[in-house]
Amino acid sequence: MFLVVVVLLLGGGEAREAFACDPKKSGTKGLAFCRTWLSIEERVKDLIGRLTLEEKVNLLVNNAAAVPRLGIKGYEWWSEALHGVSDVGPGTKFGGEFPATTSFPQVITTAASFNASLWEAIGGVASDEARAMYNGGRGGLTYWSPNVNIFRDPRWGRGQETPGEDPILAGKYAASYVRGLQGRDGNRLKVAASCKHLTAYDLDNWNGVDRFHFNAHVSKQDMEDTFNVPFRMCVKEGKVASVMCSYNQVNGVPTCADPHLLKTTLRAQWGLNGYIVSDCLDLDCGPFLGAHTQNAVNIGLLTQAHVDGALANTLTVQMRLGMYDGEPSLHPYGNLGPTDVCTPSHQELAHEAARQGIVLLKNKGPSFPLSTRRHRTLAVIGPNSNATVTMIGNYAGIACRYTSPLQGIAAHAMTIHELGCANVACADDKQFGRAINSAQQADATVLVMGLDQSIEAETLDRAGLLLPGRQQDLVSKVAAASKGPTILVIMSGGPVDITFAKNDPRIQGILWAGYPGQAGGAAIADILFGTANPGGKLPMTWYPQSYVENLAMTNMAMRAQPSTGYPGRTYRFYHGPVVYPFGYGLSYTRFVHTLASAPKVVSVPVDGHRHGNGSDIGNKAVRVTHARCGKLSISLHVDVNNVGTKDGTHTLLVFSAPPAGRGHWAPRKQLVAFEKVHVPARGQRRVRINVHVCKLLSVVDRSGTRRIPMGLHSIHIGDVKHTVSLQAETLGIIKS
Ligand SMILES: *[C@@H]1O[C@H](CO)[C@@H](O)[C@H](O)[C@H]1NC(C)=O
Ligand SMILES: *[C@@H]1O[C@H](CO)[C@@H](O)[C@H](O)[C@H]1NC(C)=O
Ligand SMILES: *[C@@H]1O[C@H](CO)[C@@H](O)[C@H](O)[C@H]1NC(C)=O
Repeated sequence: MFLVVVVLLLGGGEAREAFACDPKKSGTKGLAFCRTWLSIEERVKDLIGRLTLEEKVNLLVNNAAAVPRLGIKGYEWWSEALHGVSDVGPGTKFGGEFPATTSFPQVITTAASFNASLWEAIGGVASDEARAMYNGGRGGLTYWSPNVNIFRDPRWGRGQETPGEDPILAGKYAASYVRGLQGRDGNRLKVAASCKHLTAYDLDNWNGVDRFHFNAHVSKQDMEDTFNVPFRMCVKEGKVASVMCSYNQVNGVPTCADPHLLKTTLRAQWGLNGYIVSDCLDLDCGPFLGAHTQNAVNIGLLTQAHVDGALANTLTVQMRLGMYDGEPSLHPYGNLGPTDVCTPSHQELAHEAARQGIVLLKNKGPSFPLSTRRHRTLAVIGPNSNATVTMIGNYAGIACRYTSPLQGIAAHAMTIHELGCANVACADDKQFGRAINSAQQADATVLVMGLDQSIEAETLDRAGLLLPGRQQDLVSKVAAASKGPTILVIMSGGPVDITFAKNDPRIQGILWAGYPGQAGGAAIADILFGTANPGGKLPMTWYPQSYVENLAMTNMAMRAQPSTGYPGRTYRFYHGPVVYPFGYGLSYTRFVHTLASAPKVVSVPVDGHRHGNGSDIGNKAVRVTHARCGKLSISLHVDVNNVGTKDGTHTLLVFSAPPAGRGHWAPRKQLVAFEKVHVPARGQRRVRINVHVCKLLSVVDRSGTRRIPMGLHSIHIGDVKHTVSLQAETLGIIKS
């Protein structure tokens, strides 16, 4: 062991002292909670048994106090790693040997890749870098990421942090990213993730209503089939080590003080193995529990058993992280250090993630991609044309380096650069003349427009969906004047109503880059010049401005209400006009799919005890809890042909719609699976997709009960349609 320590000191600079159970301290290393061969449960019990009430209380807050008597150091629970290790949260301190970390695209951009292995890979890099910082004494091991709230209203300032508007997409993202952060080593955690914010939180500050005071009125139906879905998948499939409850109330009860939500749903039904963070719970993000718990126990509002229960949850996570295992360099990740941060392969993954997330929205002609032979000089215009920190969005850290759009394009062509507007607010047209002039001289024009954190952010919801200030005017004037093709690149988290550009024949191409991360400019240039073929798809609906004009952000209902004119929300419930639909995104090649095989009839085994015989349930919807679900699934084989001339990656989005006549229960369609496949030009690939019947073909009735409608379900994959008939097969009366 001595040798290992010496090597580390030489190789990695500052080596971390043990958090607890230091083998060099004879007085404490022999305590039972330090014995790694005992079960974590036994060790936690032993530790709690040794703590005084005062010591316990001081462990209930994010900056947990040291217990020097037992050789335990203080611990800061609050770190963030939304898309790379972030400097938000006091647990992470950039500087010294750790000046920067790899800054991946903002989550809404990465979601557009629809690539679950990419999400896990990003989580894996973030947790490598987090472990390296922890080993160097500059980071924590508990990360309050990801944010998987549904992007319900397009104005939400934090929509950028989320994987979009669809519950299944958000749930898959949650499970994959959490696996990346936590590792796949069973009970052992690489770092502990936290899915936030449970639940129905997606309003920051709108029209005088803020998140701290907002009481979200949510129906049981919307709760079950929309707001809670990503959290359930995060806990059940991702096995997350923590959940954070939200600021708001739901139906009059603060989520952080709702025993039904936290005890019944989250712990008992979903089986959370971990801690719940925020007010009044296992761990308080703030000083409140530290200041008031002792008194609450004294006057009988709380018992020591409550305090012990909370500590068992937090200490178990610390033990799973290996914090009580003694010598830190012997931990499986104990050898990660400064040279494991911002490595070339990590930075390449940030670049690759941006390439996979960028969405091609328009390609008239087609006039894309540009050619370095014909387009030698490009006018690069717009307030985001030389963006750096704007590209990493919020909950970011300090990036290893940046490639701005201007720098990315300059690697392929000569550039003439003009901002056009001083900033994204674009209050005046003073610089328009110069921008127009540059477009008249160049072989092609790229306008990089959009938003930044001054327009959409935490505590700042957007007022509307149009481009800010005079941006639209700049784009139209430049497009009218430019000598060559004009391409519009939108940088934004939320959707933007760019109907004007969609309809303008002078604008040949449109790209949505989201907030594409530290290498965003290089990825934009890869797509512009065709060194990468775009495959991203929108993870949220792009609505016209008229959609929000009379729509209260505070109305949480997902379903449309024709009687009041309420339009409903997201592609699942809103039928009206859109600028671009959920799932939209073009490629430089063309894909055709055909269904190779799919079942026409699937029988669903149902317990008979509450149904009498089979025939009376033949046309109804069976409760999921009465079906023998197991692995019952529909297996589809789809052939994807690339009929174009360029290699490309295709995303199959599989939607289902339940039998007609279930209108008030069901979304008009629901994403049930997605699969990404690379197909060379003129090539074909067969893709197998499994759709779990109970989880994915069920719908939620008005009382919040999940049921499987029997009858004809239609499955859509692009323009391929298939119907499958579900038939209940009663297993006979079971006497209880
Ligand atoms: C998904 O992302 C991973 C990681 O970047 C990549 O290796 C893989 O090729 C991607 N899948 C497809 C089909 O493009
Ligand atoms: C672009 O941004 C980089 C980094 O902030 C800066 O060094 C450079 O001068 C900018 N280029 C122009 C032409 O403004
Ligand atoms: C099943 O139940 C229906 C309605 O309750 C009844 O008409 C029918 O005869 C029953 N069939 C059998 C096989 O018991």
